[in-house]
Amino acid sequence: MKAPLRSVTERHSHDHIRLSGLLLRFESLNETDLVAANSLFNEIRSDLERHIRWEEEILFPIFEKGPGMRDGEPTVVMRQEHRQIKDFLDHIQAALVQQWPAPIADILALQDLFLQHNQKEEHLVFPVLDSLSDQTEHANVFVATESCPDGASRPAHV
Ligand SMILES: [Fe+2]
Ligand SMILES: [Fe+2]
Repeated sequence: MKAPLRSVTERHSHDHIRLSGLLLRFESLNETDLVAANSLFNEIRSDLERHIRWEEEILFPIFEKGPGMRDGEPTVVMRQEHRQIKDFLDHIQAALVQQWPAPIADILALQDLFLQHNQKEEHLVFPVLDSLSDQTEHANVFVATESCPDGASRPAHV
């Protein structure tokens, strides 16, 4: 039997929590086991970049066509923060490729930025998508939501 459709907020909040947990585990391994930290970082980077692509290429364009854009264009800020997240990932990776522990300040700043960013998405963007009244767009959101990477399903094209 097919699993019931989940809302964008529910599905994406789940992935935020999962990724935040991986970042916490990375913070700990970075101090104790650089080989394991490296391997986990590669997983985090791949999953986080996929998560961001899914938002920027599928979800945000639907949001940007709707009424939510009247309130300060939240997806513009979300896209800027995605670039900042990627900058932190670059800083951390630069240390790891030298076989050094990543700077704790970068890890904590990334965790903090990710948390604040997620709260904004969960309060300003996803509820708007979940409440779309246009039936076609609503269907598009749910189709997109079902292909969202959340650790359980990872279609190669996303
Ligand atoms: Fe995001
Ligand atoms: Fe997100």
